[in-house]
Parts: sequence; C-alpha cells; structure tokens
Amino acid sequence: MSKNHQKVVLVGDGAVGSAYAFSLMHQNLAEELVIVDVIKERTEGDALDLEDAQAFTSPKRVYAGDYSDAKDADLVVITAGAPQKPGETRLDLVNKNLKILSSIVKPIVDSGFDGIFLLAANPVDILTYATWKFSGFPKNKVIGSGTSLDTSRLRVALGKKLDLDPRSIEAYILGEHGDTEFAAYDEATIGSKSLLEIAADKGITKEDLLQIEDETRNKAYEIINRKGATYYGVATSLMRITRAILRDENAVLPVGAALDGEYGLDDVFIGTPAIINASGLAGVVEINLSDDEKAKMAASAETLKQVTKDGLA
Ligand code: NAI
Ligand code: 2OP
Repeated sequence: MSKNHQKVVLVGDGAVGSAYAFSLMHQNLAEELVIVDVIKERTEGDALDLEDAQAFTSPKRVYAGDYSDAKDADLVVITAGAPQKPGETRLDLVNKNLKILSSIVKPIVDSGFDGIFLLAANPVDILTYATWKFSGFPKNKVIGSGTSLDTSRLRVALGKKLDLDPRSIEAYILGEHGDTEFAAYDEATIGSKSLLEIAADKGITKEDLLQIEDETRNKAYEIINRKGATYYGVATSLMRITRAILRDENAVLPVGAALDGEYGLDDVFIGTPAIINASGLAGVVEINLSDDEKAKMAASAETLKQVTKDGLA
C-alpha cells in the first residue's frame, strides 16, 4: 500500500518536534516534510537548517507550511503543546494542551486530511483520545506514542543490568505514559525464555527489577530537572512508529492505542503493544497479564478516564 511520494506534516517545532524532524532527515522516509508552528519564523529557519543535511542523507522537500498542507498528507505528527516544568506531572498539562490541540485538529480535518494522526504532546494518552473525538476519525487512524519511550527506557535499563542488547529484550511498559504506568515483567521474555528466570539466574532480585521499573517511571523527571526537557528518546520513538506506518510494516510496537475490550477495558487510549501499518492501528496485541498486572492496567485506565472526563467536560 506504500506509494512513491509520502508526505508528513509536523505540528509543533519545539524541542520534540525539531528533534523528530532531524531524525526523519536521517531516514529514507517521506519525500515531503512540512513544519507548522505558531512561531512561523522558527519553522522557516528550521526548514532552511534541515535542508542543509540533505546532501549527506536523503533528499526531501522540507518547508514551513500551514494546516492546509495536511490535505494530501499521509501522516500528521502533533508535538505542539506546553512541556512540563520541573515538579509538574504530565497530567498537570491537560487543560492548556487540550486547548492548543483543539485549535490544531479542526483546521487539519477541514483541509481534507485523510491520513493518520500520531500524537506526542502530553498528557499523550488523553490528547490522543481527544484527537479521536475532535477529528471524528476512526480509532485506528489515531495513534499515540503511549508507552513507546517508556518501553525503550525499560529495555535500555534492563540491557545494562543484564549485559544484553536492549533490542533482544521483549519487555513492555503498559498503561498511562505517566505516573501510573507499570512494567509487565511476568510475561517478559529474552530469546523466548522468561526474563524473571534469566534475572534470577544472574542473581538479580525482584527488588532490583522493581527499582528499574521505578527509575523508568521517573526518568523523565530526572532529565527535566537536569536539562529542562526530554526529546531525543521520544523523537526516535516517533520516527520508529512513522516508519511502521509509511512502510506498511505490520510491526508490533508499544504505542498508545484505542482499546475495544482488550484487558477488559474500552473507551480509553493507553500504552500497549499493537500492530502498526499503513492503515494505522491494525490491531492491539493483548498481553495475557497476571491478576496483579490486570489490576494495575485497570487502575491506570481509570486515572486516564477520570482526567479525560474532567478535561473534556
Ligand atoms: P516546546 O515548548 O519546546 O515546543 C512546543 C511547541 O509547540 C513550540 O514550538 C510552540 O510554539 C508550539 N505550539 C504551541 N501552541 C501551538 C499551536 N497552537 N499551534 C502550533 N504550535 C504550537 O515543548 P517540547 O519540549 O517540544 O514538548 C512538546 C510536547 O511534547 C509537550 O507536551 C511535552 O510534554 C511532550 N513530550 C511528550 C513525550 C512523549 O513521550 N509522548 C516526551 C517528551 C515530551
Ligand atoms: C517523557 O517521558 C516528558 O513525557 C515526557 O520524557
């Protein structure tokens, strides 16, 4: 289903957006990249700066545009919105970022856009849900970055602890991209063997694994306290999801997906593995969770539903 010319519209040219644009420049993906932001001069400057990379990477048309450019785009990536200040949670951003989001989604839909929305702005699970509501699009065409970044963080930390390549570790962070997320250790595997068994063989205790889970959950705060924002990790997660969509990969990736009965939940977008292809979300891969993990998933979904209800009221 992939066509010869693919177009991505990036909305939000701040730390996350510009890192994503830079990451996209290094991939042989999307022949056209349009950058939109309320600060038009910045998008013009970024387009000029990014095109300087082309002679060494792959040619693309990169330019500053507006929402009407979404008309024939395959993908709109939304990173526009306020980031957390030190001490703020992602959920604290809900009211201001819902307001920003509503001013973005409508003109994009009005342009005639018929592609896929990919969300990163926080609180991302709630903004993904709101994009689905504001757009009137089918659920499969609205995807959030969900626990993609968190899963990468977990695998990197486990890779260091176990002295293994993080890409060989099949462990997921599930739930909210935020403070109620959790590591699904009970089903995690490495080379088809239980991660818990491999850890135990190496003398790594359950407490060690819980500490890694906790550090994963709090890593964004650690980075924000030191440099004010996080962006390289999420930009790479977004690039990976972009590739799965534009290349019609049917890749199983951690994302923020709409649930329709999986984990006994619905009416929520939340972090879970899912199949991603050119149609967007081709299916949720429901992990067969232990009872304890099911309860954590339900509690995380409940938090999201409550804040969503208040935010959209
Ligand atoms: P930033 O402040 O550097 O950039 C935000 C950009 O949005 C600015 O360029 C601003 O001009 C633009 N913007 C604001 N209102 C707009 C509107 N109405 N239309 C178009 N553009 C608008 O912030 P940063 O660090 O890039 O973070 C962006 C968002 O991404 C935040 O909500 C942050 O919490 C989130 N984030 C999400 C992650 C994830 O894993 N999902 C990871 C890291 C950040
Ligand atoms: C992150 O997890 C702040 O959501 C952002 O890095």
